[in-house]
Amino acid sequence: MKGYMVIGGKKVFKQEEIEITFPYTEEVVGTIPRGDERDVQLAVESALIGFEKMKKMTAYERYQCLQKAARILSNRSKEFAETLTLEVGKTIKESMGEVGRAVNTITLSAEEAKRVLGEEVPFDAAPGIKGKVGFYRRVPLGVIGCITPFNFPLNLTCHKVAPALAAGNSVVIKPSENTSLTVIKLAEVLIEAGFPPEAVNVVTGFGEEVGDALVRNEKVRMITFTGSVQTGKIIMSRGGLKKYAMELGSNAGVYVDKDQSYRLKEIAERIARGGFALAGQVCISVQRVFVHESLFDDFVEKIKEFTATLKVGDPRLPETDVGPVIDRQAADRIMEWIEEAVNAGAEVVIGGKRLSPTLIEPTIVVNVPESVRLFKGEVFGPVIAVNRVSSLEEGIEEVNNSPYGLQAGIFTDNLKAAFKFVDEVECGGIMVNEIPTFRVDQMPYGGVKESGIGREGPHFAIEEMTEIKTICFDLN
Ligand code: SIN
Repeated sequence: MKGYMVIGGKKVFKQEEIEITFPYTEEVVGTIPRGDERDVQLAVESALIGFEKMKKMTAYERYQCLQKAARILSNRSKEFAETLTLEVGKTIKESMGEVGRAVNTITLSAEEAKRVLGEEVPFDAAPGIKGKVGFYRRVPLGVIGCITPFNFPLNLTCHKVAPALAAGNSVVIKPSENTSLTVIKLAEVLIEAGFPPEAVNVVTGFGEEVGDALVRNEKVRMITFTGSVQTGKIIMSRGGLKKYAMELGSNAGVYVDKDQSYRLKEIAERIARGGFALAGQVCISVQRVFVHESLFDDFVEKIKEFTATLKVGDPRLPETDVGPVIDRQAADRIMEWIEEAVNAGAEVVIGGKRLSPTLIEPTIVVNVPESVRLFKGEVFGPVIAVNRVSSLEEGIEEVNNSPYGLQAGIFTDNLKAAFKFVDEVECGGIMVNEIPTFRVDQMPYGGVKESGIGREGPHFAIEEMTEIKTICFDLN
């Protein structure tokens, strides 16, 4: 597909293009224009006009447009899933799952369009104030810049764009340069569904050019970003006075308590699925597992057995469980991190081989020292580190031994242990008897520490994407 930018409802092409490759074969499957600062300016000007038009739409009209967009997307599920598999390299099963979730995210946002609520303010609760009544409203911000990642280009873009439109904002989207084709199609679906063409804009290109110009543009009232911590920090230092929602990295930890021997096989399988989904390229992939010492050896056997059953290879095939990572640079880094851990004394118990420039075997590494990047950093690849701990307290300490705090999990039947974990682990979300990779799209989702600021999930995103306007009447 020859991609284009979408500015004011028009397709914009450019001489200079960026190639989109299929990660599994590294073949070129499309191109996108290399946008620049001028394109961003045009898109923001369009979005300002779009915002004026959005102001004239009722909540019910925004609801209807989002419902229609969900229907169009659902009818085109197969086509969207095939595009996702081609540009992300995720398996076709995962792509179909992502399209289903995106339909749900848009539908949830449609419902939320009807619930952008304010509240009465008790002005007379201050001494000496009489005869004053009023309330506050939540009003849209204006133009929102949405910078979206490669791993879930459809659903994570929907998590930004659908709540923004539900609340009455307009958007300029800067998709990942690896996976822009899906986002271009999504913008067209939203326009076809009835949103003003000027309200939904896509500028393709590189982060340092398009992303930077969008962030620095003073007419953009908010940046909502999913990506690395490093880029998140750059955005906040360059963007100046605007709102930010940042969904950044993680190296999610999970603790398996000593009372779990009766279901260790099931837990091992769930942890492996949580670590190897999308070849580990999920912000909430299980990366670090801490198992009570009494179960450690048994757990390692069971996770090895399950990992050996996973089919690794061509993501277009329905039987494939684990596909490639996004590009060979990512694979180089992941292999380097495994090697570093092994040199520091860790042991690869299964996997560890690179099967092609972008395909890495699902890998389990045990006894990983905390000094190495596989423990400290975000591997974003199909690698799970499993370490032994001697108590719940140590499990909590190790899960917290991270610069990140997005989601964490505990498996236990002990209510007190579960609540201690909930109270003491510093994360945006805690999963009890569930892996940290669990997410449904209506729940509040976001992190603490270096995992970011703000929460997604349409209801919560709308709070971030609106501001409060206070209205007071003097009746004296
Ligand atoms: C992410 O990678 O942050 C998104 C995970 C998800 O939506 O399941």
